[in-house]
Amino acid sequence: MKPIAVIPGDGIGVDVTRECMRVLKRVNEKFACALEFVEFDWSADKYLKEGVTLPAGALDFLPKDFSAILFGAIGDPRVPDNRHAADILLGMRFGLDLYANVRPVRLLHEKLCPLKNVRVQDVNFTVMRENTEGAYVNAGGVFKKGTADEVATQEEIHTRKGVERIIVYAFEHAKKHGLSKVCMSDKSNVMLYAGGLWQRCFKEVSARYPEIKPNHLYVDALTLIMVRKPTEFQVIVTNNMFGDIVTDLAAALQGGLGMAASGNINPNGISLFEPVHGSAPPMAGKNISNPMGSILTAAMMLDHLGLHDPAAAIEKAVAACVEADQTTVDIGGTLGTHEVADAVIARL
Ligand SMILES: NC(=O)c1ccc[n+]([C@@H]2O[C@H](COP(=O)([O-])OP(=O)(O)OC[C@H]3O[C@@H](n4cnc5c(N)ncnc54)[C@H](O)[C@@H]3O)[C@@H](O)[C@H]2O)c1
Repeated sequence: MKPIAVIPGDGIGVDVTRECMRVLKRVNEKFACALEFVEFDWSADKYLKEGVTLPAGALDFLPKDFSAILFGAIGDPRVPDNRHAADILLGMRFGLDLYANVRPVRLLHEKLCPLKNVRVQDVNFTVMRENTEGAYVNAGGVFKKGTADEVATQEEIHTRKGVERIIVYAFEHAKKHGLSKVCMSDKSNVMLYAGGLWQRCFKEVSARYPEIKPNHLYVDALTLIMVRKPTEFQVIVTNNMFGDIVTDLAAALQGGLGMAASGNINPNGISLFEPVHGSAPPMAGKNISNPMGSILTAAMMLDHLGLHDPAAAIEKAVAACVEADQTTVDIGGTLGTHEVADAVIARL
């Protein structure tokens, strides 16, 4: 058996995960995947009712009892400091050492791309976002808060181990998939200390992979080229914050946030899979959010678990629905969240 921990979270995380689960249950039957699902209600609702964010013991039992985690999205305006979201999602990313945030950027149909004269094969790369350090470690402080003399500092942490392992992960991914280049992106022209570490690590690691061409772009130039010539890229590796930002841009190349999938990978332990988008509170509960990012995320999870045929079947079914305009309004269709899942299931 392959037990899967399912955490829908908040807002449209709940909506898309509900529909994604129907698709997963269908492939589970059809391909006899032996998946078992256990749902956890870790969310703003639970936090507001019980004061619980990530329950005690979760970081122990998740890797022990489960093969993977399927996550929706988290964030709720009733928790303005996003405390529960930080505890739950960052808590798992950091606590389970999910250091490689893998975000494939693949265009399923040219009509989804806002750029002109772009073919599906022109947008096909993967962003490897460092997922456990950088600007997301919550280091810093505030002094004289609320006064005219207020001072705030926000620090980034980059470790030799953390930077090196994500760069190695990017090169290993390129090697495994027969790709010929890896682009590292930073802002080392102004962020000298962290940038210097990234530069040195990239140079050292790339020397171990002579068959793969290393390339470097400052993150501002990266965004420009992603729009002007997305064909340039095969694998991009970057830090936590830049990875967060450039993958929203990358999602736009694929048709928007509703289409983007991701995996938070610990190559030596349990991994967590989630769509790139957030909880979009104004859209929650209205049957309007696009479930395809979540469904493609489930396919990524199956592939990670070695279930390649069901993963490919899901991707094929989603692509066929896109082709036939069986989609939600964000990508030009007229269907609701539930009806898109129906269409995917029918094609399976
Ligand atoms: N991994 C996560 O759980 C995650 C990621 C990003 C943001 N958040 C949280 O989500 C909350 C809302 O953040 P936000 O509004 O900046 O980002 P968001 O991704 O929730 O939504 C931004 C916009 O993208 C579009 N969108 C997103 N997902 C879509 C979908 N499935 N279908 C159709 N359109 C979709 C909508 O137009 C939406 O208004 C915040 O609390 C934020 O902290 C969580």
